[in-house]
Amino acid sequence: MRPLDLIADLRSKDKPSLANSSNNNKTFYGIDDPRGLLLSFVFAPVYLYATVKGKHDFWDHTLSALPDSTFHGSSLDMGCGRGLVLVKVAARKRSLHRTGPEMIRPEDCLTYGIDIFNSSDQSGNSPGALYANVKGLNLVDTVVAHRASFTDPLPFSDNYFSLVTASLSLHNVSSTSRKTAIREACRVCKPGGTIVILDLLGYVADYEAEIKDQGWIEVERRFAGFGVVFGSWPTQVLRAIKPGVQTLQA
Ligand SMILES: C[S@@+](CC[C@H](N)C(=O)[O-])C[C@H]1O[C@@H](n2cnc3c(N)ncnc32)[C@H](O)[C@@H]1O
Repeated sequence: MRPLDLIADLRSKDKPSLANSSNNNKTFYGIDDPRGLLLSFVFAPVYLYATVKGKHDFWDHTLSALPDSTFHGSSLDMGCGRGLVLVKVAARKRSLHRTGPEMIRPEDCLTYGIDIFNSSDQSGNSPGALYANVKGLNLVDTVVAHRASFTDPLPFSDNYFSLVTASLSLHNVSSTSRKTAIREACRVCKPGGTIVILDLLGYVADYEAEIKDQGWIEVERRFAGFGVVFGSWPTQVLRAIKPGVQTLQA
């Protein structure tokens, strides 16, 4: 395993460059693949809606449909970018910890993100922009972000996360690398844990096949909704539960 290029343990004093970050409560998540927006021509308004509103609504709805137990452990967002999914997961954990069972300790339920912070995949993408959003929502103590690529073995041990997410990130790499990423997501997810992937139509069926090849049985793929159509390109969502003796779905 390659040593980690740790850029943003957001809990430590070793903060990332804050050139793009601000200290107020405003959060902003940029535009996904700005070139895609330009190439959408007449469908540009549909694309814009998906990237600034539809994706938020999709993840709010999707995360709220998961059982509370999914959030009683550490989670990983693969290709977190400016943190849209990361902060939603961390905020859900925070609200559950306020009302949930006392034995669930926030320090055992950290929200991890990895990214290479490619600004052509999301406008303004940077560790500083991620930090600004996490700080704007007072989630700094619960989030850990690494600069790492999901095309490499993930820097986490087997069966570690109760939830692994990826939002519009995996399609950016080659077919071989996408397979590596899916296999790694399966490896780091704990038995009974859940993987949720949102991605463009045409990619998600391959993720489903790869996950089933790993012996997972509870795997569901469907149209993600009209709110997350990027121009003329629809998206699909995949939800899968890792088989095993320990179940988190009760
Ligand atoms: C369209 S953005 C989506 C960001 C975020 N998941 C969201 O939904 O707002 C795609 C993200 O994937 C990241 N990415 C692309 N290739 C990656 C790789 N090999 N490893 C990690 N992240 C990657 C990009 O840097 C970018 O942040």
